Amino acid sequence: MCGIVGYIGKNPALPILFSGLERLEYRGYDSFGFCVLDDDKVDYFCKEKGKISDQCHIKDSHSIGNVGIAHTRWATTGMVTKENAHPHSNQDKDIFVVHNGIIENYKELKEKLISEGYAFASETDTEVLAHLIDKYFKGNLEDAVVEAIKEVRGTYGLAAVSTKDPNKIVAARMSSPLLIGVNGDEFIIASDPSAIITRTRQIIHLDDNEIAVLTDEDFTISKIEKETRCLNVTNKEIEMIEWDIEQAEKGGYEHFMLKEIMEEPNVIEDAIRGRINIEQANAKLGGLDSIQERLRGINNIVLVGCGTAYYACKVAEYMFEEYAGISARSDIGSEYRYRKTIMSKDTAGLFVSQSGETADTLAALREMKEKGILTIGVTNVVGSNQARETDAGVYTRSGPEIAVASTKAFIGQLTTLALMTVYLGRQRDMSHVMGERIINEISNLPELAEEILALKDDIKVIAEKYSHYRDFWFIGRKYNSAIALEGALKLKEVSYIHAEGTAGGELKHGPLALIDENCPTVAICPSDSVYEKMLSNIEEVKARKGKIIAIATKGNEEIRKIADDVIYIPKTLEMLTPILSVIPLHLFSYYVASALGRDIDKPKNLAKSVTVE
Ligand code: M6R
Repeated sequence: MCGIVGYIGKNPALPILFSGLERLEYRGYDSFGFCVLDDDKVDYFCKEKGKISDQCHIKDSHSIGNVGIAHTRWATTGMVTKENAHPHSNQDKDIFVVHNGIIENYKELKEKLISEGYAFASETDTEVLAHLIDKYFKGNLEDAVVEAIKEVRGTYGLAAVSTKDPNKIVAARMSSPLLIGVNGDEFIIASDPSAIITRTRQIIHLDDNEIAVLTDEDFTISKIEKETRCLNVTNKEIEMIEWDIEQAEKGGYEHFMLKEIMEEPNVIEDAIRGRINIEQANAKLGGLDSIQERLRGINNIVLVGCGTAYYACKVAEYMFEEYAGISARSDIGSEYRYRKTIMSKDTAGLFVSQSGETADTLAALREMKEKGILTIGVTNVVGSNQARETDAGVYTRSGPEIAVASTKAFIGQLTTLALMTVYLGRQRDMSHVMGERIINEISNLPELAEEILALKDDIKVIAEKYSHYRDFWFIGRKYNSAIALEGALKLKEVSYIHAEGTAGGELKHGPLALIDENCPTVAICPSDSVYEKMLSNIEEVKARKGKIIAIATKGNEEIRKIADDVIYIPKTLEMLTPILSVIPLHLFSYYVASALGRDIDKPKNLAKSVTVE
């Protein structure tokens, strides 16, 4: 995600901000910016696309101001441009804001502000904050920030400075991390401890609804409760971070892969934030607005992706046919691009890719465009080739994924595709009741995902128990047949163990020949419409002395009698089970690889983004 650093103290702010941003580089970003104040003057301001390391001259600028804020942006709302980089300012350029998070109601706020005479210079949601602070500014920055955030729905970690109320930084948090580093009489505000720890290890975490005011002598933290700012919070304790830089970057986890798996509930939340319309029992997908009418005439969807993204396509195939009432099929990018396909004009192509830069997926996209087919993208990276070349699309908003293994991005793709199912379904035969049911269940997923992550130590024990096996089989049916493929891919990718996935019904058509006591099977068998069939497949494995690790629905005691180990997932709608069933598989692969001492974040022979054929 984006990164924030702010400094106030007795030293020039710019070099400290610069090195803070450098230490946030690992998170990935596409643009950055600085604003340094020297008393009531702007002493240094710059915004650029690209990497900080290409602009090292910045830190040598003769800036002496001792108050400043800086930001690395990973585009979500608005393309990658200099204008969209932070800090954003009001029209008079005397209030500056950096922000992480998503302002859900920014379009309404923007329209209102424009009608009140405010002019906008960027496409971002953040700029709304700068103008709102301006609107409420009556001489005191923190009061204006409090008034501004009362109007905002969504998430924010923000830091603001103003030449009209100089020598202070105001920071506020709602569901987006922010902490204060305390170093004598200098204070650093940051979204991530790695930006701070070379300067101080003493930190205070801001909690939701808290607002901090930092000066070069002191800081105060207040709670915004029931729309009024209360007195200072007195019970905030200074914590000592013991992590080294590498651990800090990984949020204290040993690997990015584990950190990213632990972020999966947040990824679901971010994917659905502001995209649910309960009254209409529908999904609000602004990225599809421009093709809304064309979509009504679409009767077939061809989904294309590679690797894990292809498995997301396979899951969506079932979702679209069962709930959206559209015929759907999936193809692998490298296959689609060379085959002859028969596609009627009422077909749309749907391209799924984390990076938006996968060469085979892009080639398939171009091939489809050539044939005049409507193209839609589901990607994580704003401004990627896929995002630019498709006719319309929806971003997954999963944040940068650093480990080569795709985990949280897959969850973001599945969640986005589930929302799309409701959107397409409601354009067709899906009833209000069904739309509401799916939407409600999607909204519950973050909490259910947390429940699974809470089992991580138990899953670790199971993974360690099985880590000496050299072959694994994964089986699932219907929605979870693609999860069997994904489970096997993840295990081989990070642990280098041979693993294969098949639809449960395929076992007896060949794979059973390989099942014995040396080849455990991971059976994804939630209590759904194919549960009984999965039980038969499990019996087939047991009859060959194969061990079974079952992924089953909480409350299913029967499965314990037949499986060697069981990992429970909470109950949800059948079409949404893949979003939960894959989480234990991500953890299982991670812990097997960890037990074997593999280079988990950078598995041998693999690249994060496959931009060549
Ligand atoms: O960036 P993309 O989603 O297009 O990448 C597609 C695949 O290369 C990717 O999912 C790959 O299979 C992962 N490393 C699997 O974990």
